[in-house]
Amino acid sequence: MLSTPHERMNFMTLKLNEKFLNGFVAEHEMTSMEAQVRTAHETVLARSGAGSDFLGWVDLPVDYDKEEFARIKAAAARIRKMCDILVVIGIGGSYLGARAAIEFVHSPLYNTLAKDTPAIYFTGNSISPSALSDLLKICEGKDICVNIISKSGTTTEPAVTFRIFRELLEKKYGKDGARERIFATTDRARGTLKEFSDKVGYETFVVPDDVGGRYSVLTAVGLLPIACAGIDIDAMMQGAADARELYSEKDPAKNACLRYAAIRNILYRKGKVTEILAAYEPAAQMFCEWWKQLYGESEGKDNKGLFPASVIFSTDLHSLGQYIQEGLRNIFETVLDFTSSADSVKIPNDPENIDGLNFLSGSELHDVNRTAMLGTLFAHTDGGVPNVVLEIADRSAYSFGHVVYFFELACAVSGYLLGVNPFNQPGVEAYKKNMFALLGKPGYEEMRAALQARMQD
Ligand code: PA5
Repeated sequence: MLSTPHERMNFMTLKLNEKFLNGFVAEHEMTSMEAQVRTAHETVLARSGAGSDFLGWVDLPVDYDKEEFARIKAAAARIRKMCDILVVIGIGGSYLGARAAIEFVHSPLYNTLAKDTPAIYFTGNSISPSALSDLLKICEGKDICVNIISKSGTTTEPAVTFRIFRELLEKKYGKDGARERIFATTDRARGTLKEFSDKVGYETFVVPDDVGGRYSVLTAVGLLPIACAGIDIDAMMQGAADARELYSEKDPAKNACLRYAAIRNILYRKGKVTEILAAYEPAAQMFCEWWKQLYGESEGKDNKGLFPASVIFSTDLHSLGQYIQEGLRNIFETVLDFTSSADSVKIPNDPENIDGLNFLSGSELHDVNRTAMLGTLFAHTDGGVPNVVLEIADRSAYSFGHVVYFFELACAVSGYLLGVNPFNQPGVEAYKKNMFALLGKPGYEEMRAALQARMQD
């Protein structure tokens, strides 16, 4: 970890590379956006825009509950000792950030790699009986802890899954034993899960009132599972705190985060309505999923918004690559370029060179991977697809915190540039209400009758 402020100041965690925007975004277009970007940024910082009740994430990296932070670390230490498997139950913003962090910093294969921390399975994020049955089989004969995460406490997917795991733990460990192994992350004071947890005596952690689900990875929502995976959450918060300071720069020309927000808005106005987040690193796949929720829920409303998509290259160059190269020209790419790798794999020499690959003998796979990226950047821009490149120093906890803050702030500024409230998600409720009605939840009788009538039409 970078420990002194001096070390951190001289360490470039994220660099915006605009070289592959040549011919797509001109500097005078950036200059003409400056006043709007400046205003949007000020609106976020002054908490004076739409949805301003949900701006707790802005100062969170420095202004967080230190007592709770210490409790998170203590609970994580106990969980690590108590179980082979931590089952994390949650959906959307109550799930994606933690999973993204664990895969980003460790690996998508975290659960199967040798380690002295528990395997961590995420569930409650679908209603699939097969997915749940598979996980229940994996849990057989293992010691388990559960972290149920739900701000509202009423979301069907995690609530149903929690009921099943609660019964399993109570049968296995008794009610007292289960109480020691169940941790609830929910609203500070309200909601079914909070009431139930207080009644039964679970240790609880807080989803702050002023932080929406998709902005909650640096609260207990993300931090408890992340700490259970042995990741340094102090470093993660420091990365976010340093990003907060760096991107408080008011001059849009000098602020990479504001420039990114401006670039995507300029491209959107030119008809580039789909943004594809591309990474040449499978460990970033869940980070892309986290990013898609952040941008999709924040911008997609009032019949507006960029559609957030994602790809992992070079894998998807062999599936979606054709479309990106020559399909509808309404897309641009934002590329996560990890400039270093903690892992060294060299291509061996073959004296017989049967496969003709000796031109790569001794090459590092990381360098080959970045060369694939360069070749793709040239090809895609030649094909009419603008590319924004974010050079990221590494996949450390510190960098994760930095990049999370970068995207959160850029998203809020982008939302204001678009003229939407980036902090609500009215559309998410539509399916939830219909589902409650169709499943027969009390209070939804009228809606149920109306939906049934529509089915007869
Ligand atoms: O961003 C959101 O608000 C949603 O994706 C929620 O995170 C998701 O619906 C889960 O909600 P809850 O934490 O209340 O169970």
